Amino acid sequence: MHRLLTGPLTLERVTIPIVGLSPDHQGLRLVQLSDFHWDGLRLSPWLLRRAIAQSNAMTPDLVMLTGDFVTKEPTPIHELARHLATLESRYGVYAVLGNHDNFSLKERLTIIEGLQQAGIQVLWNQIAYPLGPGLAVVGLADLWSREFAPALAIRVLGPPMPASGAVS
Ligand SMILES: [Fe+2]
Repeated sequence: MHRLLTGPLTLERVTIPIVGLSPDHQGLRLVQLSDFHWDGLRLSPWLLRRAIAQSNAMTPDLVMLTGDFVTKEPTPIHELARHLATLESRYGVYAVLGNHDNFSLKERLTIIEGLQQAGIQVLWNQIAYPLGPGLAVVGLADLWSREFAPALAIRVLGPPMPASGAVS
């Protein structure tokens, strides 16, 4: 791990009010982990294991992973995914990709496959309903890709659906 490229592990607790959220979904605990940049230079296995342990200790309902998973080379995703497979989440682990995960379609597909093999669902302009039809989880294409299309999700969901989305 390069000391200048990785800061200490930090935990930020945020309460997000969602208009129209049903009482069944009040108080859900979501964990977001972001920007792993797993390339052998930045994040160390030790720090990653600590982050995963901290996430598991919070007994989250949902875990959301936001890219970048790698920096340049996609192949480290397989090693990273083996670590991420130890994440515990009541309703599943979901991911969106960052710009470093999408230098080419081949790279993107490698990242997606690696994550899926770890039981992680990758959303690319897709909507999932892990908690049932009353709460949508929207994962958009990377903001800098040519495929970033929030209008599609908005059209599918319509105005009455409470939605929680993430962009890396
Ligand atoms: Fe990044």
